[in-house]
Amino acid sequence: MNKLANDTGDEVCTPQEAVPVGDAGRVLIFDSGVGGLSILSALKRQFKAGEFIYASDNAAFPYGTRSRSFLVARVEAVLRALIRDYDPDIVVVACNTASTVVLPTIRSHFTLDIVGVVPAIKPAAQLTRSGTIGLLGTPGTVNRDYTDRLIEEFAAHLRVIKVGSSELVDLAEQALRGQALCHETLKAILAPMFDEPDLDTVVLACTHFPLIRTQLETAAPRKVAWVDSGAAIARRVASLRHRLELKRDGGVERNTTTAVFTQSAPDIQALQPALESFGCQRIDVLAP
Ligand code: DGL
Repeated sequence: MNKLANDTGDEVCTPQEAVPVGDAGRVLIFDSGVGGLSILSALKRQFKAGEFIYASDNAAFPYGTRSRSFLVARVEAVLRALIRDYDPDIVVVACNTASTVVLPTIRSHFTLDIVGVVPAIKPAAQLTRSGTIGLLGTPGTVNRDYTDRLIEEFAAHLRVIKVGSSELVDLAEQALRGQALCHETLKAILAPMFDEPDLDTVVLACTHFPLIRTQLETAAPRKVAWVDSGAAIARRVASLRHRLELKRDGGVERNTTTAVFTQSAPDIQALQPALESFGCQRIDVLAP
């Protein structure tokens, strides 16, 4: 079970202002859609420099309702093409839905270091005072055996209220395209957790959700701790980076960010301002 602990992060990962240091090397951050941008942002808070490749499998979005066999085959195929074209030092699977299914397979099929974002149940279990936590992810993530194992290992003594929502993933996609979110819709999605008076901590178990954390906080009927995996993943990449021989000249600090999509689509245009706000200077479409 050590791997789970590694992917989850050992420390409580509430937002904290780390001073960015060092060069991340070339890091490929992979998600179905815009969610991985929350992980990109955590990496940029951690490192002073790096070559970041942000990849969205928009051709197969969303992952949250896909079958296990689809995800295993799809993620492997897309990662293979991305590694071929971008030759990263480290890969971050910035998608809970994918990581909770594909990590063992892809780790056995690729030789480079792969960090997987999985639900931050351990830090949430350390943080709660009431003993009731919420788990907000995609329908896939909240129903996975992997997630149940995390709960058994770190939160067996707690009450865990699971909410799986594909709608919230779509809403985060819309927000990044500049659309305002309906407060009542957000409230309705959060209701099954907040109906429980003891709830004091919510795990944002989908990388899309930290992107709309402010809107979620506003829609929530009371204050709770919102926990995500971003800072822990950035620390994990930093610890791997220490022992990694970079493939390129490590003495030169590069600072570039490229966004890659698996298909060209008209709505990428609408994402451009958001991508620029995350520092993306270039947009590519992955060759088949
Ligand atoms: N961002 C992904 C996650 O962390 C899922 C989004 C989707 O359903 O495609 O689970």
